[in-house]
Amino acid sequence: MATRAVFLVGFMGCGKSRLGQELARRLGWDFVDLDAQIESREGQAIAEIFRDRGEDAFRMAETSALSDLIESLDRDRDRNVGRGMVVALGGGTFAQERNRELLRSWPSIFLEVPIDELWRRCQNDPTKRPLRKDNLEDFARMYESRLPFYRQATVTVVTAGKDPSSICAEIERSLHFEGRSEVRFEARTEPERSSPILPARFRTGEPK
Ligand code: S3P
Repeated sequence: MATRAVFLVGFMGCGKSRLGQELARRLGWDFVDLDAQIESREGQAIAEIFRDRGEDAFRMAETSALSDLIESLDRDRDRNVGRGMVVALGGGTFAQERNRELLRSWPSIFLEVPIDELWRRCQNDPTKRPLRKDNLEDFARMYESRLPFYRQATVTVVTAGKDPSSICAEIERSLHFEGRSEVRFEARTEPERSSPILPARFRTGEPK
């Protein structure tokens, strides 16, 4: 299937925006941050939406923004027009069934990063994240609950120890980029290795 968009999936702090911008630059595509789209559509920062209207309202706004984006991509694809687009989703977007359904005919890339590294990055990042937990254990539990969904992405790219340009090159290869305008994807590729995402002590139901 020829397409002109790629969606980056993964937990907060996994580098969706940073790598998305780099990938878009390399491909000569546009970069779209779904959170930024939501903020501009709603006229409120993400943290304010959570604070004033709650998570359910945020999820509705998120699905609505994604749905409109996909609709316009579908239209462009049917007419064989439009620029390519790299889209960074929010950390919870792919955990919602309705959103995964919307994304069914588009390639998605799960950026897999060890939990300790995600935690470290979120601690050091000034971005206001309403769902960032106050301790590593809760943070890890939330990650664990989302992991089965992230694993449903078309491709998993393990990013540990790799620089942004090799990660982008890997994404391009895994999706069989042909030229600068199209990407072909047929099947979900398996991760190159299963990584030690969660230390055993964070697994739900296991003794600490
Ligand atoms: C969320 C992650 C955030 C943002 C919102 C909810 C989540 O995006 O969409 O705060 O549910 O994990 P980032 O992953 O870019 O931080």
